[in-house]
Amino acid sequence: MTESLTIRRPDDWHVHLRDGDMLHGVARHTAVQFARAIVMPNLSPPVTTTEAARAYRSRIVDALSKGTAFEPLMTAYLTDDTDPADLARGKAEGVLTAAKLYPANATTNSAHGVTDIGNLAPVFAAMEEAGLVLCVHGEVTEAHVDVFDREAEFIERHLSQIVRNFPGLKVVLEHITTREGVEFVEAAGPNVAGTITPQHLHINRNAMLVGGIRPHAYCLPVAKREVHRLALRKAATGGGAKFFLGTDSAPHSKDAKESACGCAGIFNAPFALESYVQVFDEEDALRHFEQFASLAGPAFYGLPANTDMVTLERADQVVPDTIDAAGTPVVPFHAGETLRWRLVA
Ligand code: DOR
Ligand code: ZN
Repeated sequence: MTESLTIRRPDDWHVHLRDGDMLHGVARHTAVQFARAIVMPNLSPPVTTTEAARAYRSRIVDALSKGTAFEPLMTAYLTDDTDPADLARGKAEGVLTAAKLYPANATTNSAHGVTDIGNLAPVFAAMEEAGLVLCVHGEVTEAHVDVFDREAEFIERHLSQIVRNFPGLKVVLEHITTREGVEFVEAAGPNVAGTITPQHLHINRNAMLVGGIRPHAYCLPVAKREVHRLALRKAATGGGAKFFLGTDSAPHSKDAKESACGCAGIFNAPFALESYVQVFDEEDALRHFEQFASLAGPAFYGLPANTDMVTLERADQVVPDTIDAAGTPVVPFHAGETLRWRLVA
């Protein structure tokens, strides 16, 4: 049995670091595990411009202890009023790595998101030209569409068109939750990839709804049926170039989750690598973990892979019930469970 695994330091290609006290409470958990991370812009108000992204990047760096080797890669939040020239400038000045498409009202702080994707053609054209990656929250939002069907319907109605109309645009379908998502990414050209979260590899929708309603298993896109989880596990552990690590770590206070209208989001940053590697171990695919965690993401984004190494070892650890985020208790993914692997300090 493999007792330890040494790989190039991984990156997180999708994370919510928040702002203010919460940022100060959670940023180090990501910086301990990852060299770089694509930081989501859904603050309140959202990070919609190059200048806002530059300022947010400084706040992230300031929230970490001096000398922490961690590089936040910034994203701009697309709105109906996004200025294509500002995005191109953000990329040219080394501030922006990607822009994020939230359909309006799809999830946390997405009220300013895009109401008509058809109107974004000039923005996509500018991004294609500038080499700015498009990160997509792929869910339709119409009230009549069942929440479990929203990803598949987005792919059919919107994503396929974007990819067809802008073949040079790099597109990441974020936090894939369905077999349809996996199949779409696999069938598309090399400019289309997908990120996969730890939770969607571990849980299906029963985890949320059987034996009581469990708010800490609730995120968006919501976990689906078992058949989808199995498709995601196969995609993540297959060793290909199109699927890579994106935790979607999304901290909310314990109170905000345990509420009559609980927030969407799972805080998985503190044990993300341990959570992922356990899946690769269970699938007998540890040899592909470095590809998923450390190589496929940089290759897609056109960045060098990290050169320093990290080691994970087979050792039990119990995940705490809560983690203190600068005075606010947050419940981590796997709270109270025993994980079988440990990141060596
Ligand atoms: O569950 C989620 N939480 N999904 C998202 O898309 C946003 C995130 C958040 O910011 O809380
Ligand atoms: Zn997210």
